[in-house]
Amino acid sequence: MKALLLAGGNGSRLLPITLGVSKQLLPVYDKPMIYYPLSVLILAGIREIMIISTPQDIGRYQHLLGDGSRFGVSLLYKIQEEPKGIAEAFILGKDFIGEAPVCLILGDNIFYGLDFSEKLEKVVERTKLGEKGTIFGYTVNNPERYGVIEFDHDGIARSIEEKPKNPKSNCAVVGLYFYPNEVVDIAKKVKPSKRGEIEISAINNHFLKARRLLVETLDKGFTWLDTGTPESLLEAGQFIETIEKRQGIKVGCLEEVAFQKGYITKVQILNCASQIKGTSYGQYLEKKYGK
Ligand code: DAU
Repeated sequence: MKALLLAGGNGSRLLPITLGVSKQLLPVYDKPMIYYPLSVLILAGIREIMIISTPQDIGRYQHLLGDGSRFGVSLLYKIQEEPKGIAEAFILGKDFIGEAPVCLILGDNIFYGLDFSEKLEKVVERTKLGEKGTIFGYTVNNPERYGVIEFDHDGIARSIEEKPKNPKSNCAVVGLYFYPNEVVDIAKKVKPSKRGEIEISAINNHFLKARRLLVETLDKGFTWLDTGTPESLLEAGQFIETIEKRQGIKVGCLEEVAFQKGYITKVQILNCASQIKGTSYGQYLEKKYGK
């Protein structure tokens, strides 16, 4: 399984902040936003990852994350010349994807919940069989901001509408998608929507129609946050701060997740920690993984 991490776009709802810096590099409490979705991919056990961003920002991501060896994964980088839509990722990533099934994650989505790693590993294994894709639904109070799932009387997902004025449910599609390899060919055929984008919802509707898409719901005990507006960015930071301080843990700590998966050693963790000595992040790693 290969993964694409989309970290481009204009960040238009965060202007003027995003005039000078890429949205997914902004801090969410104590680490850059991109750490959170990247940690989800590592948790899922996906080790070949392509990060896609704008011509002006891609170098900053390379500087931040390097070749991924610090986290026991392989990172490649690809430029998206213009934000032509989320599903363009599959076209940009086609050579990297090759024959493999593929996961896509949006660089501004944050996930936090119990047993997420096991859930993800199961979805990865199922997607590898090549028959069905999987998306996740999450109940929100502002569905019109998202892709929204329409269910029939039996609770079966029938279609997905992108940012509908009159949402047919409160169930939003989160920014984490798993597909069999055909997604690349399907993406090539999708026509841009009225707003000029190659929509991820068009891909999902294609798989739904073919009865090849499973919709798993993330329950109320699970937290899914997006960070696209000043309010949601602040709230996400406050949420992470609260959890981390209260429980003495770290969310989205790449070195820790990589260690838990067995991809790096304690020595490597401590080496990373020594490079950010004196910060709460560095001290956390030293305290937990030092002698
Ligand atoms: O967050 C989940 C939602 O993400 C889904 O419910 C929607 O179905 C999906 O369309 C998307 O909606 P957004 O309004 O959040 O999409 P946005 O245009 O903000 O893009 C999401 C991320 O992807 C953002 O970090 C920027 C990046 N992006 C976006 C586009 C369109 C790119 O890197 N390139 C692009 O061309």
